[in-house]
Amino acid sequence: AINQEQDKPISLIGFMGVGKTTVGDAFAKQSKIKFIDIDQEIEKQTSQSISSIFETKGEDYFRSLESKTLQDVTTNPSSVISCGGGVITREENRIILQEKTICIWLKADVEYCLNQIEGNNRPLLEVNDPLKKAQDLYKSREAFYKEVSHIVINVKGKSIAQICKIIN
Ligand code: S3P
Repeated sequence: AINQEQDKPISLIGFMGVGKTTVGDAFAKQSKIKFIDIDQEIEKQTSQSISSIFETKGEDYFRSLESKTLQDVTTNPSSVISCGGGVITREENRIILQEKTICIWLKADVEYCLNQIEGNNRPLLEVNDPLKKAQDLYKSREAFYKEVSHIVINVKGKSIAQICKIIN
């Protein structure tokens, strides 16, 4: 397995709704390694939901928590780390992902991703035209996902099991 040959954790990046948490959780169970979801870590540590952090403290504050958490969790080699979709917006995070992890980009188009999003727990998409907002975000981020990742997996049409097999 990728993670046994190298002394680095696996990180999953990609747009909101692409399935990073689902895939990460499934892969970790299958490989019997630790699963870390950065958003969930932040929620645990602050006892606040991501939406509420955005609302009360703003995005910059959230990004700082995200960077700090990424830095902390990437020290555990035997783990799979699911990152928030915007983790690649900060250069310090891009460097960590590139140098300290085996970084996998789960890739799909914006429509696919939005279809998989349930509920209203994505504060950045709480706008009049979420599709337009998502397309703009995707456009501004795509080059970063590409630059940072060591492996790209097109997830459209693949089952969770198939995606895990590719990672493995
Ligand atoms: C964000 C993605 C979210 C979460 C926050 C911001 C983003 O994570 O970190 O709402 O900027 O794309 P998911 O990618 O798990 O939805």
